[in-house]
Amino acid sequence: AKDTAPDKKRVALTFDDGPHPTNTLEILQLLEDYQAKATFFVLGNRVDFYPDLTKEIAARGHELGNHTWNHKDLTALSEEEINQEIQLVNDRIEKITGQPPRLYRPPYGAKNDLVQEVVGLTEVLWTIDTEDWKSHDPDKILSVVKENVTDGSIILMHDIHETTVEATKLVLKFLQEADYDCVTISDLNSYE
Ligand code: NI
Repeated sequence: AKDTAPDKKRVALTFDDGPHPTNTLEILQLLEDYQAKATFFVLGNRVDFYPDLTKEIAARGHELGNHTWNHKDLTALSEEEINQEIQLVNDRIEKITGQPPRLYRPPYGAKNDLVQEVVGLTEVLWTIDTEDWKSHDPDKILSVVKENVTDGSIILMHDIHETTVEATKLVLKFLQEADYDCVTISDLNSYE
């Protein structure tokens, strides 16, 4: 059963392409400071390299999503290759955290019917693209969020960029002042 929607506005912060040994840890600390939860769409090859960090993300109550093993365009792959890109990451996350991911985000947002059929996880795109990877400018990233945020927004950022750490701090401060709760994607979905 779905819960009744709370009065407070909610957004989902999402961080792609990590985990990253320093930036992700700093973002985890910021999230704790602001009592915020987020979703991390991790790459399998990085999960493999940073298993403790991956475990830490989950241990702190954040959600892990599958962003494939190698960040390939899934629409260019065969069924078997898609399966490999996804299944390996599911297995690794389950082995590390005890729970397989429920969500995935296709690299570049690229998907088609075959991809959706083969992956078998809930697909999550975004409603606000901060373009943090392009601008590397915390103030600009903040203004993209300010201009576009609404109840239920899904905000795309990347925790592999150092400037995104500072941007996350600005965004969290703004969201708190604007009376938004930051929740995981699964929590956001449970109220829709
Ligand atoms: Ni990505």
